[in-house]
Amino acid sequence: MRLGVNIDHVATVRQARLAPEPEPVAAAVLAELAGAHGITVHLRGDRRHIQERDLELLRQVVATKLNVEMAATPEMIDIAARVKPHQVTLVPETPEELTTTGGLDVARHSAALRIVVQSVRRAGIRTSLFIDADRAQVEAAAEAGADAVEINTGPYADAAEDARAEQLERVAAAAAVAADRGLEVLAGHGLTYQNVGPIAEIAAIEELNIGHSIVARAVLVGMDRAVREMLALLRLSS
Ligand code: PXP
Repeated sequence: MRLGVNIDHVATVRQARLAPEPEPVAAAVLAELAGAHGITVHLRGDRRHIQERDLELLRQVVATKLNVEMAATPEMIDIAARVKPHQVTLVPETPEELTTTGGLDVARHSAALRIVVQSVRRAGIRTSLFIDADRAQVEAAAEAGADAVEINTGPYADAAEDARAEQLERVAAAAAVAADRGLEVLAGHGLTYQNVGPIAEIAAIEELNIGHSIVARAVLVGMDRAVREMLALLRLSS
């Protein structure tokens, strides 16, 4: 199990005042020094937090793995081909949403996504598709030629207590199908220090992407401690 730390909301604090601080690159370095296995950012069309400048600097500084979430638009694909992060995660994006609200409908847009995956691959970048925990979506992601899928844990995180086991089982089942199809299996969204435990027990999941909860804790206790405490919950030494 690896931990990718999403540092978008470090940039959110900076953009709240259009100030030069806090610096996302500094947060990335501290997260890596604490033992994070990767850094994730989401370059949104509206640039509400991460900016292209951040991407360029992170590409130079991140020593582990830089994963960039983006919509499958020509603008974003051009940026990815220029900056060349280690991995691109294609996500659905709507301007009004507070955060990503669901997985890509790969099954429905398979022809278009296959072309996008091919062009990202031609740029030498791995492609992950953010999908809901659904067998048809996993199969479609494999058909589209993705290297990895990131299974949406949002419904698990949001579920009422009596519905949580069912959502957990969905994530586990989708992860097993994805591993079986030879896809690298990631998961994330809505994970916290309180709810991550059962997800971390799913053997097929190789990496978790966690953002808001780690940055929220880092504001109070510092990035180093926040990352180390999450790694300890994942039973990874730090
Ligand atoms: N994975 C994806 C695809 C996301 O869009 C996000 C949010 O940017 C995350 C993981 C991290 O979610 P959270 O901030 O709730 O940990």
